[in-house]
Amino acid sequence: MGHLSNRNIIIAVSGGIAAYKSAELVRLLRKANANVRVLMTHGACEFITPLTLQALSGNPVHTELLDEEAEAGMGHIELARWADAVLVAPATADIIARIVQGRADDLVTAVILATPAPLFVAPAMNQQMWANQATQDNISALKQRGTVVVGPEAGEQACGDVGQGRLLEPPAIVDALAAAFDTQPLAGRKVVITAGPTREAIDPVRYLSNHSSGKMGFALARAAAEAGAQTILISGPVQLATPDRVTRVDVTSAQDMLVAAQEHSAGADLFIGAAAVADYRPAQNHEQKLKKADGVGLSLELIENPDVIATIAISASRPTVVVGFAAETQNVLEYARGKLARKNLDFIVANNVADKSIGFNSDQNAVTVINARQEFDVPVASKDVVARAIIERVSRGIVTTSPQEEI
Ligand code: PMT
Repeated sequence: MGHLSNRNIIIAVSGGIAAYKSAELVRLLRKANANVRVLMTHGACEFITPLTLQALSGNPVHTELLDEEAEAGMGHIELARWADAVLVAPATADIIARIVQGRADDLVTAVILATPAPLFVAPAMNQQMWANQATQDNISALKQRGTVVVGPEAGEQACGDVGQGRLLEPPAIVDALAAAFDTQPLAGRKVVITAGPTREAIDPVRYLSNHSSGKMGFALARAAAEAGAQTILISGPVQLATPDRVTRVDVTSAQDMLVAAQEHSAGADLFIGAAAVADYRPAQNHEQKLKKADGVGLSLELIENPDVIATIAISASRPTVVVGFAAETQNVLEYARGKLARKNLDFIVANNVADKSIGFNSDQNAVTVINARQEFDVPVASKDVVARAIIERVSRGIVTTSPQEEI
């Protein structure tokens, strides 16, 4: 169940008698440390109150597609991007048919249409409705599209019938969800990730730095640990908690980061440089605070810092796969490809930081993962979702004979 820890799960409840079981589902998911948000159709609200599911999930329950207040908080597109998985439970014959049609005329169907996250459907309905060819065709269509259909099981039904159509018991649904995250492609591998900014001292009270918050690097460390890797996170000064099962090494300057990277990358399978390392530092780090001289400007001489990732990429103990990030404001892909070659990297992750909604300090990102032969777009999503996509792609380079073979 550990695989559900810190996963963002949307439970969409539709209107059937089994809706009461969604309370137990939410409770079990919270117990497994998943972050849970509940969507309800209007029909579902007739069977169980949003208040119950709000109390159990710890988050407001979403019921409306067109609701100014809801859209100002977490609107349907944000919900769709936030989710690591969407589970429809119980899923009535009607909601299944509407998902298959690609409808978007209520919140649940709109979120399902808009999300890149995997979809799980736990059907619950009268046995005759389940057996109906229309429902069976819809279920086949869902499965063909990659939806995981969980249940239903056979037994006595609320309407008095006996047969296939009962909602699978909540613990079994949670197990099915957990199993989907139970892939550990990096088990037994060592991954080193740099994150955050560096600070280059001018004097004891001043420094040069940049806007990196560390969120992207920390999300990558979380994703690597989830994928089973022994994960070392070398971080510049940031205000973030260390992810579970990650060893953190705090550094301040680019020079410190290089020393830590050299020490820890020995024997590593994967090195990812997500840090925004300062390219330059003041030529002189003054021992005492520089005094202001009124009316006179101040010139700082800057000298070049070592390139951490380029040094690791040509070292004798080079990790199997070395991945850089390219933070660019123009000609993003072209400049990124230049860095891929110049720094001897296996992959570069191109990041357009001119767009304030992604990149530096935002909670979301959108990137292009590039190697010498191919490119792969990761559309806008939370940094956790983007990080998992990056880890999934670049890990393939570790298991193939050549990192260039797959993207
Ligand atoms: O931290 P966040 O707020 O979440 O923001 C994320 C991010 C925008 C910082 C991140 O996604 C990102 O793009 N990181 C790379 C930033 C950067 O410094 O890019 P660059 O194009 O200047 O450097 C290219 C690569 O060389 C990077 O892997 C960088 O870590 C590395 N580098 C650069 C200079 C240097 N002296 N040593 C290096 O190792």
